[in-house]
Amino acid sequence: MNAELENTGIDQRSFEILPRNSKMQSADQQTQVEFNKVLVVGLGQIGLPVAKYVKEKGYDAYGYDISSKAMNIAEGASIKKANNFSEFDVYILCVSTHKQGDLFSPQIDGLLSVVERISTEAKTGALLSIESTIPKGTSKKVFEMLHHRLHVVHAPHRWYAGEEKKHGINQPRTIGGVCDCCLKVGMQFYGFLSDKNNDNRSLGIPMHPVTEIEIAEITKVVENAHRYLQIDFAEELYLYCQANNINFPELRDALNTKWNVNILEPRDGIGGHCLPKDTKMFLQSSKSVRSKIVLAATEVDQDYRRYRQKRGQQIRGI
Ligand SMILES: NC(=O)c1ccc[n+]([C@@H]2O[C@H](COP(=O)([O-])OP(=O)(O)OC[C@H]3O[C@@H](n4cnc5c(N)ncnc54)[C@H](O)[C@@H]3O)[C@@H](O)[C@H]2O)c1
Repeated sequence: MNAELENTGIDQRSFEILPRNSKMQSADQQTQVEFNKVLVVGLGQIGLPVAKYVKEKGYDAYGYDISSKAMNIAEGASIKKANNFSEFDVYILCVSTHKQGDLFSPQIDGLLSVVERISTEAKTGALLSIESTIPKGTSKKVFEMLHHRLHVVHAPHRWYAGEEKKHGINQPRTIGGVCDCCLKVGMQFYGFLSDKNNDNRSLGIPMHPVTEIEIAEITKVVENAHRYLQIDFAEELYLYCQANNINFPELRDALNTKWNVNILEPRDGIGGHCLPKDTKMFLQSSKSVRSKIVLAATEVDQDYRRYRQKRGQQIRGI
């Protein structure tokens, strides 16, 4: 019997465990079954509720953020500050993935610098989960940087500020692993445990596993491109109504009486650090076939913004 697993209550028959602390080993045979210390990197809108949820589930929850303000808020919520990146069982990356000073453009330099640090400090066999939204191919790049010393999964977030209770941390999510062993370990951490002999904890989140990690990556950006299109159609319809002297709110109300129609409100144009950036990630994810409809939608959003700006100036008499 493996001495490390004695008295853990974990069914050892189904796992092959290699000695844990060698940094030279690959994680492929090491499907770690014990998660205790969890580090959440990036403690913003997503990372802070993730860290709190992890803590609520009974894990030893740590956090790290380059922003001292974010770190202080997390410490106020009893998330311990990580002074280094070693000896964690799980790393959850929730860092921003947009360019500094340009919310609408993707950039993963910050995320890769975190991975660089993890690659030198983490123990073999730990789990690294990317919850940030990332361009296709990022997870495999991360995996290569780690030389498969750690398991790598992507479990993109669907957290929604407007309805945190209903659409917060614990809601159905996709998950992909770079290798089968990565997915297996990721599912042990996130999902519901099906092995009755295994009384180890998990986050208890209903996960939808996919066979290729790229599917998990693309799922997230397509979800947001789809949302972008829905808002964009409302913007275009609004412009159409303005040009043809039609009352948009009345038309919208009438349309939405049909069971399968839901025209959204156009509001201020499509903003924030998610929809425009993720839609760009989707457009950039294919060189050969680029979505014509999404490309056109980005132009409509520009038209709508210009219209709003002009109207605003007219109203203010500028
Ligand atoms: N906010 C949402 O509703 C939402 C929903 C789903 C997915 N996402 C995705 O989750 C990711 C994070 O989004 P967010 O809304 O939490 O952003 P945020 O700006 O609120 O928080 C990101 C945090 O990461 C920190 N950070 C950046 N670079 C870092 C580094 N190198 N090391 C440590 N910390 C670093 C920042 O200081 C910040 O506190 C993004 O990829 C976003 O697209 C966000």
